[in-house]
This record gives sequence, C-alpha cells and structure tokens, in this order.
Amino acid sequence: MNTNLFNLTEKVVIVTGSGRGLGKCIAKGLADFGAKIVVGDRALEEAQQTAEEIGAAGTAAATYVDISVRQSCIDLIKFTVKEFGRVDVLVNNAGIDIIKPAETLQEDEWDQIIDINLKGCFNCSQLAAIQMMEQKSGGSIINISSIASVIGIKGLVAYSAAKGGINQLTRVMAVEWATKNIRVNAIAPGYFENIMSGANAEHAQPEKQEQVVTFTPMARRGKPEELVGSVVFLASDASSYITGTVLFVDGGYTAA
Ligand SMILES: NC(=O)c1ccc[n+]([C@@H]2O[C@H](COP(=O)([O-])OP(=O)(O)OC[C@H]3O[C@@H](n4cnc5c(N)ncnc54)[C@H](O)[C@@H]3O)[C@@H](O)[C@H]2O)c1
Repeated sequence: MNTNLFNLTEKVVIVTGSGRGLGKCIAKGLADFGAKIVVGDRALEEAQQTAEEIGAAGTAAATYVDISVRQSCIDLIKFTVKEFGRVDVLVNNAGIDIIKPAETLQEDEWDQIIDINLKGCFNCSQLAAIQMMEQKSGGSIINISSIASVIGIKGLVAYSAAKGGINQLTRVMAVEWATKNIRVNAIAPGYFENIMSGANAEHAQPEKQEQVVTFTPMARRGKPEELVGSVVFLASDASSYITGTVLFVDGGYTAA
C-alpha cells in the first residue's frame, strides 16, 4: 500500500485568487505538501507576497490574471508552462461577492459576478484541461464552490447562481474528461473566518454572526487552514477514483 498518497512533490499547481484569503491559505498548504505553486491573482502585489512567503519553504511564482478575461487565462497557462513545464492541478478559487437584494442588483453587478465566478472557472478549467490533454498526463481540477450553490441565502442571487453553475460545470467536465484521467471536483465551503472582499458590512452585523453560529451544527466558522486538507486530498493520488463530487466543508451547515 502506498502510504505516501498525499505527497504532491513534482505536481505543478495553479491557485487562482491566492493573493489573499482562502486561496492564499490553500496555496501555502499545497506547497507544504511539496507542490510547485503558481499564485495567480488580479491583485499582483498580493500574489507576489504569497509567492514570497511560500518561497522560504517551497517553490512558487506569482503572476497577474483576471480570470474573467479569456486572454489573461491563456497567459496564465502559458506562464505556468514556461515557469514549471506543465500543469497538474488547477484550483479555481478566485471569486467576488456583491451582497444585494435581488430586486436592486444591477445588470452590471450580475455580469461581474457571473463573468468572474462562473465564466472565469470555465475559462481556466477548459484551458488547463487542454494543456493536461497535450501532456497526456491526466490532472485534477478543483473548483471552489459554496454552500450557497445548494441553499438560498438572502442577498446572494447572482453569487448563488454562479456557484450552482460551478457544481454543474464540475459534473459535466468530470464526465467528459474522465477517460483522460482529468478529475474535476468541487469543494463547497460554509462560513469561514476569512470574510470575502465585499461581504464585510454584512458580516459585521451581530445578526449575521448569530445566524452562522445558530445554523452551523459545529457552532463556529471554519478556520482557513481547515479548508486545506480537502484541497490536498482532491489534488493528490488519495482521491484517484473520485471525480464529479461536491465536497461540503461547512461544519455540518447543509446537513442540518
Ligand atoms: N470566505 C468564505 O467564508 C467563503 C465561503 C464559501 C465560499 N467561498 C469561496 O472561496 C473563494 C475564496 O474566497 P475568499 O473568502 O478567500 O475571498 P477574498 O475576497 O478574500 O479573496 C478573493 C481573491 O480572489 C481575487 N480575485 C477576485 N476576482 C478575480 C479575478 N477576476 N481574477 C483573478 N483574481 C481575482 C482577489 O483579488 C482576492 O485575492 C471564493 O471562490 C469564494 O466564493 C468563501
């Protein structure tokens, strides 16, 4: 029995949106398991900071990417191949949040959320898979979804539509690319201690914290590092027969 199932040495991993927040924590966690990391973010300075922090213990390179822009995603894959020669794992983590009632959400806000959270995930997944097919290596694509993909949370009409779309995109790509050994899975976090940019005002309200604690069976938010294990698992050989799943990392929120 291979007791080294979680070893990511020699794996080249792209983590989008890893300049801060959960993506940064995921990138650093994957590096701890030996992966070479491309830190992609539209906040370039923050991406460089993450890469520097990984640099002390592992190997990382930072690059600008706006995942809603097709050419930028093409450049992300090219950068990765130039730096590290291949792509083995893609973590589609970058996302935005605009919290507004459905009746006041503006068309341009809808477009921004769908373009980044859903089209961006499609762009990067398709281009990474094409690269993996050229390598004839297989690979693993991990999409960061949300509990909002399956339940209704007030103020998240476009965000939820995008995340629900991510769950379905995950299943279709998993089925289409299964024989190429490109696995596609999603992770759906519940409420984490890192508050997404754009959600600070909402989460500063005592009622919101009360809702999180009351409806999360574990009665607390997740710590960012508690997301790392699920990503390492899906990136590694430990999950070699798992594709098309949505793994909820939510302290039991969606089970209740
Ligand atoms: N924080 C939570 O509790 C929570 C819960 C469920 C799901 N999620 C999901 O986890 C992921 C990360 O969330 P977070 O809390 O770290 O958010 P965050 O706002 O802290 O960080 C998001 C990162 O993505 C980058 N980004 C945004 N748009 C981009 C674009 N177009 N191209 C490239 N980079 C872009 C930002 O610059 C930032 O570095 C998101 O997909 C989010 O939907 C978060």
